[in-house]
Amino acid sequence: MKRYYLLWILLGILYPNMKGQVPANSPLGNVKKIEVSHSTYTFLTTNGRAQVTVYSPGVIRIRVAHQAFAPDFSYAVEVKPEACHVQVTDAKGLYTISTDSVTLRITKDPLRFTFLTKTGEVINADDPAFGTSWLGEEVTTYKTLQPGERFIGMGEHGGNLDRAGTACVNYNTDNPEYDDASDRMYSTIPFYMGLHDHLAYGIFMDNSSRSLFSFGAGSNRFDYFRASCGEMNYYFIYHSTVKGIIGSYTWLTGRTPIPPIWSLGYQQCRWCYFPEADLLSTAAKFRERHIPIDMIYLDINYMDHYKIFTWDPNRFPDPKAMTGKLQKMGMHLAVIIDPGVKIAKNYPVYQQGVDSSLFIKYPDGTNYAGQVWPGWCNFPDFTMPKTRAWWGRWVKTYADEGVTGFWNDMNEIAVWGKEVPDLLNLNWDGLHTTYRQAKNVYGFQMARSTYEGAKKYMDGKRPFVLSRSGYSGLQRYTAIWTGDNQAKEDHMLLGVRLINSLGLSGVTFAGMDVGGFSGNPTQSLYTRWMEIGAFLPMYRAHTTINSNREEPWDFGETCEDIARRYIGFRYQLLPYIYAGFYESSQDGMPLNRSLAINYTNDSTIYDPEFQQEYLFGPSILVAPVKGTESLCRVYLPEGNWYDLFNDKPYAGKQVIVANSELNRLPLYVKAGSIIPMQKLVESTADNSGDTLFINLYEGQQPNQYRYYEDDGTTYKYESGHYYKRLISYDPQQAMLTFGKKEGSFTSRFHVITLVLHGFTPEEVQHLTVNGAAKTVTPEEIRFFTSHFAFADYGPFDTKHVLSVSFPDNDNEMQVHW
Ligand code: GLC
Repeated sequence: MKRYYLLWILLGILYPNMKGQVPANSPLGNVKKIEVSHSTYTFLTTNGRAQVTVYSPGVIRIRVAHQAFAPDFSYAVEVKPEACHVQVTDAKGLYTISTDSVTLRITKDPLRFTFLTKTGEVINADDPAFGTSWLGEEVTTYKTLQPGERFIGMGEHGGNLDRAGTACVNYNTDNPEYDDASDRMYSTIPFYMGLHDHLAYGIFMDNSSRSLFSFGAGSNRFDYFRASCGEMNYYFIYHSTVKGIIGSYTWLTGRTPIPPIWSLGYQQCRWCYFPEADLLSTAAKFRERHIPIDMIYLDINYMDHYKIFTWDPNRFPDPKAMTGKLQKMGMHLAVIIDPGVKIAKNYPVYQQGVDSSLFIKYPDGTNYAGQVWPGWCNFPDFTMPKTRAWWGRWVKTYADEGVTGFWNDMNEIAVWGKEVPDLLNLNWDGLHTTYRQAKNVYGFQMARSTYEGAKKYMDGKRPFVLSRSGYSGLQRYTAIWTGDNQAKEDHMLLGVRLINSLGLSGVTFAGMDVGGFSGNPTQSLYTRWMEIGAFLPMYRAHTTINSNREEPWDFGETCEDIARRYIGFRYQLLPYIYAGFYESSQDGMPLNRSLAINYTNDSTIYDPEFQQEYLFGPSILVAPVKGTESLCRVYLPEGNWYDLFNDKPYAGKQVIVANSELNRLPLYVKAGSIIPMQKLVESTADNSGDTLFINLYEGQQPNQYRYYEDDGTTYKYESGHYYKRLISYDPQQAMLTFGKKEGSFTSRFHVITLVLHGFTPEEVQHLTVNGAAKTVTPEEIRFFTSHFAFADYGPFDTKHVLSVSFPDNDNEMQVHW
């Protein structure tokens, strides 16, 4: 025994830090004192402090710190607490804070939080033993796993729709060719929803340092979320529906402004079209072949030695004339802009950055340099207001040349797959921090700088910004895409899940590299991907530099024909897509709606076989399937459905076997749906005619649809220059009502063609519009699916739909049958 004792003393002398080097778990402790001010309740404990702030009846913020709280600042959260009715009780050992929606029960010894419904059901509770505690600087909140609890959200993370049993690391990373299980992705959204016992809640941890969310992975005792430094700072959100939770989350972090309509058309990209002649001839080919398109991109090779805000003078001698030519073709140009500023003499962007001290710095005041495309670079500190304004002025130089799309890449920050050191100093809007806290918001603030600059200098026109990296709140400024995917069937389906998950996490405007970034897609993969892309919020094909050419005509006539039809169908659907973005700007509802939003408690939708199915907008169910499968199983959730191609009706809550031949992406329309469409155009700049096609699908349940239109390109809608109209379907009264229009904008359409799906001629033979009798005529089904889209895709079980046209004077109108 004595010998061992001496050995320990000896080891202690040799390795003095060994003992006690790694701190043990340190809990928050017991409540010593409670301070109340307005809607904020502060609990001083034996080992720190916690603060509860009521933001709204269903949103309660919790902060936990060892010492005094840091200044309250967030890039993500935009709002201040709302005044609302709160009741408090303070008894020995127990404190409660109740709003009209939720009760927070706070035990004092030790301090633990439990969120309850008004009828006393536990929604979410701290782990009784650990609550919030520290391991050194890391702060973790442990929650009790509820029986059968599912977890959805977390933005851009692979894996299953239900994240139970898995964990997500939030650490923005340039992770090319990521695979399904990969957990470090390009953007961070530390927000999830927990679902159990028909209850749903959300938790958003607003801490941008590296974090980990574990949903019962590696331990079935608790789920937890952990930040590597800083405060525990989370918002608990309760609502009876997932939709309501997304609404509250996007109330906190903001919503996507309505994008320019042209950014919702088809976008063609590749690394890289050059010289100018290649870009222009590619654009012209779309027009010659009547494949609709609105945008084309330039990747890094348009620049002079990868110096941002320059043009290669040989490849692109006259950018303004070039964008003019594109404009004549009804097309917009987007260019890539990375954050790395090449360290080069006589390069004004670099020189100004140095002279005005705009770059990220080491603690000793020297500029940080890292290597990326241009070689050694400095990096703008986008957390500094001065840098953002300066960046915006450089964005203006592109806008002045007619560029309207701005593509921010490599903003994780990517330095050839290496780590940018944590010790760098960033301005953090005057509060000063290190890269450790700033990394995950860097791309977000870059996209913000780009958006604010473009908005300011584009004469009242809406810009389009696309970013690879981001953090909660990015949706206010930018669209996002899922980075460097692979030309593989699995990646196509993974991409759908990523976009659905982004939609659950407040990000509506998302896309993926259609066709796959690395590798060469087979004909069937490319074809299927183009079909799915038509039903994504952002529809952009992109591929890497050493892949084969990947324009729709490069895969043979059949593929070209299919691509033309699906892109065409998307253009016909633009009134529906645009109104979907309007809806999203109001309540945060995404375009890609994972079935977990509307069918939350249906366990089949979480089945890996069906988990990537989604509703595109309120009405169209998309069942993504590999290009190699000509038959597939589709789960139709509760309700009644119509096959989009032939109007064949199906009862929901069943698995059906669907035709998924190469030209046939399984698509279904929910009974009772109202879907506005327009005639086919090849660019959003084309005249879309005077007729709005309102497709009504017979159903048992009443339905309401808000039609929305504006000029599609300016911000005038913010001051009432829009056209908005509620359309209500009442099957019991056999009636469709068009409400009086709101707003000062005059619709492009003056005629309504009502296309009736699922009705028999007998049912509608006495149809009237505002009391006047109308004749309903049978039309080929292509009337809806149209000659340019799916007309001759047979065999169809139903050859006809019924339609009736009438002028629209924007007043209330009643259609009765
Ligand atoms: C990155 C981007 C990719 C782009 C390439 C060249 O890999 O993710 O989209 O084409 O850089 O700029």
